[in-house]
Parts: sequence; C-alpha cells; structure tokens
Amino acid sequence: MLRLIVILGITGVQGSSVADAYLSSPGWKIRGVTRNVASDSAKIWKTKGVEMVKGNLDDVETLKQAFVGADIIFGVTDFWTIFKDPESLKKKKPGQTLVEYCYDVELQQGKNIADAAATVSNLSRYIFSSMAHAKNSSNCKFSELYHMDSKADAAIYAQSIPALAGKFSQIQAPIYFQLPWEWGLPTTPQKAADGTWRMAGIGPGNKGIPFGHVRKDFGPCVKAVAESEPNTNLFAVGEYVSWSDYLRIFCETQGFKSGGYEELSYDKFCELLPGGLGHEFAHNVLFAHEFGYEGSDPAVVRPEKFGLKMTSFREYCEETDFGALKGGM
Ligand SMILES: NC(=O)c1ccc[n+]([C@@H]2O[C@H](COP(=O)([O-])OP(=O)(O)OC[C@H]3O[C@@H](n4cnc5c(N)ncnc54)[C@H](OP(=O)(O)O)[C@@H]3O)[C@@H](O)[C@H]2O)c1
Repeated sequence: MLRLIVILGITGVQGSSVADAYLSSPGWKIRGVTRNVASDSAKIWKTKGVEMVKGNLDDVETLKQAFVGADIIFGVTDFWTIFKDPESLKKKKPGQTLVEYCYDVELQQGKNIADAAATVSNLSRYIFSSMAHAKNSSNCKFSELYHMDSKADAAIYAQSIPALAGKFSQIQAPIYFQLPWEWGLPTTPQKAADGTWRMAGIGPGNKGIPFGHVRKDFGPCVKAVAESEPNTNLFAVGEYVSWSDYLRIFCETQGFKSGGYEELSYDKFCELLPGGLGHEFAHNVLFAHEFGYEGSDPAVVRPEKFGLKMTSFREYCEETDFGALKGGM
C-alpha cells in the first residue's frame, strides 16, 4: 500500500526539493498544499502525479483537512511572504516594526501546522523546517533575529504537544547559494567599470558561512530525517564558504576577473536594504560567524551522518545559468 507524504510549500524551493525526492522513491503518494491550486506551479506538480490541495498556513482548519491520512508531513513557513505582503504594514500593531509583526504571524503559522499535525492519528513523522534560536543561543546578544526565532519558537511549541511526542523532527536550511541574486543583495557579484567583478557584504571576507544548494539537496535530507529516529535535528549545510571565496569561485567558474570583496558597516548594509531586511540578513551572518548558524547545538546533526552527498559551491556555479536567476547578471 502507498504511504502518503503531505508537503507544505510545494511550490517553493524547499517543498519542491522534498517533492522531487519522494517522486523518485517508490511506494509514496504525494499531496502538495498551496494557497492557489490553479497557479502554474501547482499545475506542474499535478502533471507529475501530485495531488494538489488548497490550504493556508493562517487557517488551521484547512491544514487539518490537507493532513488527513498523512504518514509524513513536511512543514515550512515563509517569513518573507509575510514581509513582502503590502497588507502586513496595515495589519501590524501601532508601534510594532514590520519584522516583529512577521515574527508573530510566522510563529502562529508554525503553531497552526503543529496543531493540525497533532490531529493525524496514524502520523509517523512531522518534520518542520526550523532555524536556531538566535536569542537563546547567543545569550540575548542577537535578540532581534525575528526570522530565526519565529521558527525556533514554533519548533519548541511542536515539542510541547503530547500528541506529537515521538513523531517530531526538525531540519534547518542553510543560506541558499542563490540568495544574493534573489534579493538583489550587495553580495551579488557585480561587474565594475574596470571590468572586474566585485561584491560588498556584511562581516569579514575570510570567515566561512554555511551555504547550500537547497533546491537540489534539501529533499534527500528531509527523506533521511524521515527515515531516522524522532527528535532528529539536521542542519542541511552544503559547504562553508567565505565571501572572498564565494566571489573567487564564482569568477573562476564564469571566466571573470575578481576585483575583491568589500566589508560594509551594519549601518550601510541596513541603509541599502531598508525596512528591517538589512537587519535580518546582517544579523543572520554575524550570528552565524559568532555562534554558529545552527546555534552550535551539539544535538544538531549534519548530512555526513546519513552519508548524503551535498553540492559544493563550485559545482553549483558550474551548473547554474546566473543570467537566468532572478535579477540576472
Ligand atoms: N533563502 C535562504 O537562504 C533561507 C535560508 C534558511 C531558511 N530560509 C527560510 O525558508 C523559508 C522559505 O522557504 P522557501 O525558500 O522554500 O520558500 P519560497 O520558495 O519563497 O516559497 C514560499 C512557499 O510558501 C508557501 N506559502 C507562503 N505563505 C503561505 C500561506 N499563508 N499558506 C500556505 N502556503 C504558503 C508558498 O505556497 P503558495 O504560494 O503556493 O501558496 C510557497 O510554496 C523562509 O521562512 C526563510 O526564512 C531561507
């Protein structure tokens, strides 16, 4: 008999990767959840044999419906959908910053997934895409890293639900290799007037930052977590790459000449990325440098534990058409 995995965020990066991993495994039926079953990406999954159902992370009843009969649930919340929604500025409380509002909404979404998962009687595993608790693991030094702590607090909530005892695991995504292009960050390599390629970013150029080819490697990591014991917390890191090496490897693989990395101040970085965006990204990197992106938690395991082959940044660069990425080059 086929087993059922229900995948949230199937039209996004992480959920797509999970769906690909299970599509290529015999014995599985896949149900994908989306807010819009008529979207182009939802239709593509349907043509691949995925059952697509409507569901909204803000509406726990729709999640309960979507989860009926699930053996495995993969849950992901998206802080940035909330951040980019113009309605969020209208809905936030007076005096509340946008990122504080996004924290509240994302945490509630995480609680909704856990509450709905708890109603599935024969569930074997609920795997949530979380992040380290920056405030707790930095002794409050990084107490305003909202897109991390919202996920970490949602994971703490899921662990407190008796019906999920022995069923819950976590996976943490590293920084996506393509992130600079997708957000048009200053760390996107740019061609300078002298013909060299340069980038500017936060933090020193020589410290490693955990990256990964999340679209390709995340799904196999989720599958390994599903097949492992409950309470697994996997940090799905691909490779630690410093900003200087990021630029060097990018240039070497594209046949460009590197003009070097420039370290920006926190204030300058936030000026370039207003509205809390610069703050969240900058502190994400600075927290990773000082406390470890996964909070240096010894209980967190890495892909080596499962013998998973992770894509290096050089391999990613060799197979990527950077001109086709959002923002191009
Ligand atoms: N980018 C990075 O470097 C990085 C690193 C670590 C962690 N993360 C985290 O990864 C998360 C985003 O994951 P992703 O990159 O896979 O997302 P994504 O590619 O941006 O796609 C967002 C997904 O979320 C779904 N979604 C958004 N709001 C929803 C709602 N209210 N109800 C139901 N579904 C909803 C969308 O589905 P529909 O539109 O089809 O409804 C879509 O599938 C963020 O929270 C981010 O903080 C990102």
